[in-house]
Amino acid sequence: MVICAHIKTIFSKRIYPLQRDQSNFIYKKHSNHTYSTMRTFSKQFWTLPLLMIHQHGVSFAFTTNSLLSTSPLSSNQRYKINKNQPTNTYSSSRTNLNVSLDAPKDIVPPKKQKPLPKNMVVVHRGRQSMAFRQGSPLVFSGAISSSFRIHTDDNDDDDNLEEERLELGTLVAVAVSSKNNNQRSGNRNNRNNRRNGKNQGKSVETAYSHSNYFLDSNGVLVLDENSTSESISSLQLIGYGVYNPHSMYRVRILCHETSHPSTFKSIKQILSTSSTQEPNEAIRLILKVKFEEAIRSRTSLGLPNLSTDSYRLVNGEGDGLSGLAVDVLGGTVAVIMSSASWCEIYKSDIMDILNQILNENDRKLDLIWRTTPSRLAQDGYNKDLLLQDEDLHDSERGILATESDIQYKVFPWAQGQKTGFYCDQRENRVLVAQLCHNKRVLDLCCYNGGFALNAMKHGAASCIGVDSSQDAIDTATENAKINGLSDDCSFVRDDIANYMKQTHEDGDTSYDVIILDPPKLAPSVSGLERASRKYHALNRDAMKLIDPIKGGILLTCTCSGAMTQKDGGQFFLQTVKAASLSARRQITLLKTSGAASCHTQCPASFPAGAYLTAALFHVSPLER
Ligand SMILES: C[S@@+](CC[C@H](N)C(=O)[O-])C[C@H]1O[C@@H](n2cnc3c(N)ncnc32)[C@H](O)[C@@H]1O
Repeated sequence: MVICAHIKTIFSKRIYPLQRDQSNFIYKKHSNHTYSTMRTFSKQFWTLPLLMIHQHGVSFAFTTNSLLSTSPLSSNQRYKINKNQPTNTYSSSRTNLNVSLDAPKDIVPPKKQKPLPKNMVVVHRGRQSMAFRQGSPLVFSGAISSSFRIHTDDNDDDDNLEEERLELGTLVAVAVSSKNNNQRSGNRNNRNNRRNGKNQGKSVETAYSHSNYFLDSNGVLVLDENSTSESISSLQLIGYGVYNPHSMYRVRILCHETSHPSTFKSIKQILSTSSTQEPNEAIRLILKVKFEEAIRSRTSLGLPNLSTDSYRLVNGEGDGLSGLAVDVLGGTVAVIMSSASWCEIYKSDIMDILNQILNENDRKLDLIWRTTPSRLAQDGYNKDLLLQDEDLHDSERGILATESDIQYKVFPWAQGQKTGFYCDQRENRVLVAQLCHNKRVLDLCCYNGGFALNAMKHGAASCIGVDSSQDAIDTATENAKINGLSDDCSFVRDDIANYMKQTHEDGDTSYDVIILDPPKLAPSVSGLERASRKYHALNRDAMKLIDPIKGGILLTCTCSGAMTQKDGGQFFLQTVKAASLSARRQITLLKTSGAASCHTQCPASFPAGAYLTAALFHVSPLER
């Protein structure tokens, strides 16, 4: 429960000394005032013994050491004051608060508070609690109750508080509030604020000290029982992450206490020293640990190997480095993809540590830094600060990448699609290729020919690849030649919808295997409906090209996370099913799969990481 008050109108402007002196205020037992405890009112809200102070008909609620409310409480039936334990009296000369207090003798002084990290973000346990327990890499703005820097200077006064906001990229400790009853009031407070137009839909999250108040967007001091000393001492530190006030992902957690206890301790140690280098040192330690782990897990997958030297080495949240991906191409180049502000801020540390760890593991690689400006903009990063590698416009400079014994010319220095190679489809390419022996294959959205070349290598009778990008078609054609697979394998530049329409009109409807791997058609949930209509049409038209007499195979893909995640993956399958009804073909689902295993996942804590669905269907002959 959050109780708000315009304290400034009730107390003098010197709120802060009052806050700090709560323990003295209550426990030193001055004369002239009395106080009383109240343990019994509305258990659903309060589990702490409360202290009520009455002044001129207005009641103030305190926990054992902190001010909770200055709202008039007496009119509310829930707040029953137990007057049966009158004892000592008390006064305070430090404020203009003139109160009388009834006190029991048995008030227990508060426990000494744990020392707290300097920069900290508190998240509601109620929200995402399961996800946090399972190591969620992201703290959403909506889950935060407060974020603050601890006051270290006792002489700070109210005027300095404004300057204590946490900055983009600050390494913060993340703590979960273990008080369940906070949730309801927090929600209500946020709801009220939204209703009043306050905070413009942002969570109320800026607190300025570990005492119990923060300023809302109107500069009004708000009390929040989330941060009473009891709740602070029961805060559970769960990890360290990078803070971003501009992103809905308010914190990207980079180190969880549960999974990396000794790294967590080391970071604590580093941050407790007073060097200005501390955040970078801590980040470098995290990077070292995470890169080493990433290499170990790829080694356990047998990557790289003699057949494959191109794979994903770091997969963002899947490897505990939210917003950072690294693809190794051709065993000689590592393309780093940055899509989060923290990556740009710590770019030189990332490059440096990656280089160091690769060298230590005998994987010396040239590093290329690439950015996704749209995602960085979403993450609040100022695009004017973006520094691309100078040689990133060298579209001619290519290397050979090998995957499943097929060589591909890739251009990691060119500004083009992704990192230059879609290594997420590696396992799906082999999966469908194994069904292509002696078959007629159509590879729709073929890019540089991955599915087509695998199909040919596995003995396809013929293959046509279609893509709207001329560069992709040129590269696919060259790749077919490099691998000696160009006989009976050709590539056409066209829009796939046009191509299918034309092919149907030409009566060429006898494909045995069709691969349909369009680009991301649903960039977000809001685009799902429109995208599903496109998927419907594309899948319907693809099925119509499958041999109507023998039937065939359709591997249909979506790389839209919104599509893949909707209804636990059922939405995409239902869309394809609906398309089959439109095509008047019976389809049978044989298998669904996702991205190749080097695209590590953490499905329990970060289901949004699953973006790719590849669904393998048998398409029955056409019944007339
Ligand atoms: C996800 S990638 C395909 C990856 C490819 N299947 C592979 O295995 O590497 C999507 C491809 O679709 C192409 N594309 C986008 N819109 C298209 C359209 N309307 N018609 C044909 N190709 C299109 C893009 O140029 C891109 O190469």
